[in-house]
Amino acid sequence: MTVAIEMGQTTAGAPAKLDLEELLATRLLVQGNSGSGKSHLLRRLLEQSAPWVQQTIIDPEGDFVSLGDRYGHLVIDAEQHTERGLQAAGERARMHRVSTVLNLEGLDAENQMRRAAAFLGGLFEVARDHWYPMLVVVDEAQLFAPAVAGEVSDEARKLSLGAMTNLMCRGRKRGLAGIIATQRLAKLAKNVAAEASNFLMGRTFLDIDMARAADLLGMERRQAEAFRDLERGQFMALGPALSRRPLGLRIGPTDTSPRNGTPRLMAMPESALEDARAIILAAPPPETVRTPRRPASPDLLDQLMAAKSAALRPEPAEPQISAEDLAERRERVDRVLRAILAQPDAGFRVIGVLYQEFVVRCRIEGLASVVPDLPEFRR
Ligand SMILES: Nc1ncnc2c1ncn2[C@@H]1O[C@H](COP(=O)(O)OP(=O)(O)OP(=O)(O)O)[C@@H](O)[C@H]1O
Ligand SMILES: [Mg+2]
Repeated sequence: MTVAIEMGQTTAGAPAKLDLEELLATRLLVQGNSGSGKSHLLRRLLEQSAPWVQQTIIDPEGDFVSLGDRYGHLVIDAEQHTERGLQAAGERARMHRVSTVLNLEGLDAENQMRRAAAFLGGLFEVARDHWYPMLVVVDEAQLFAPAVAGEVSDEARKLSLGAMTNLMCRGRKRGLAGIIATQRLAKLAKNVAAEASNFLMGRTFLDIDMARAADLLGMERRQAEAFRDLERGQFMALGPALSRRPLGLRIGPTDTSPRNGTPRLMAMPESALEDARAIILAAPPPETVRTPRRPASPDLLDQLMAAKSAALRPEPAEPQISAEDLAERRERVDRVLRAILAQPDAGFRVIGVLYQEFVVRCRIEGLASVVPDLPEFRR
């Protein structure tokens, strides 16, 4: 059986296909500078292949957590688990065939590397009976397989590089198909990049990255110059799972979106200099101890099983809010509003700033669905 997913359109307007079975055997490297559209490309690939194959995403910025809501991936917040816990989670995810997102947001570089290595180790070390095919996507792979030593400890670097090398060099027999994306090819360890035989090359500016790309693809340096002119979302594809000849393509749309979208320009708030001075230079709040975002749940197996059954259940219909509930929520919104207006400096603050604080507090209270808009707030 051949399963081809559609990544978008070729420059000639034909569907651009990616052969999933071939990909499992040959792995993929995506490269392009910041903003070239790599994460969007990975999201398209993950969404299109989700019905066909188990997947996991090593997600340094928490970009992919939204896949959980739509496609049933279990989001694992690495910040809340030990390395040992994550290793076990990796093994269990494979045993129970649950797709996962390893969210490494909020950790420093050292801990991102250690915890990703532990989780990848779990995927890799699982017993032979569980070597089901699986896509393992690593975004910003240069963080986990850096070409040169950085500021992290040698031990962390060794663990992480070892896990990435295992994934890309020895993972295939165990059913693991590595898909790695990087902003800077020159910063990615050579042995890790060299194992991929499919490439999607996006916009690249620096000569040193272009030279590495040309070497990897067996192209003339002059030919690789064309990567400079690619637009956001445009990639050059090459490899057995994509195309035997270099092929230009444009990545298609996605169903889900990243949590952190591209910043858009918006009108500046109107505020007098004196207001600004009072807000910006107000006394700092007292120091508080940072509390974890969510209480840690010790039993990952329970979470994995719950996610699996959730993924199998049909999507529930949007719950209807009763009139009583609605009135109760409005009352709570009013209370938040009164609390904000009761602050001694409320009269000095511009309306936009007050509104922002109001919205944030409502969200914290779980009242996002009944927040009035700015004109209503103004009234
Ligand atoms: N093919 C596309 N179609 C529509 N929008 C796209 C496409 N590719 C990228 N974008 C949009 O462009 C922005 C940047 O894309 P993306 O985040 O994927 O870049 P990136 O290469 O991952 O950058 P970074 O290396 O900084 O993470 C996003 O808002 C994304 O939604
Ligand atoms: Mg990205």
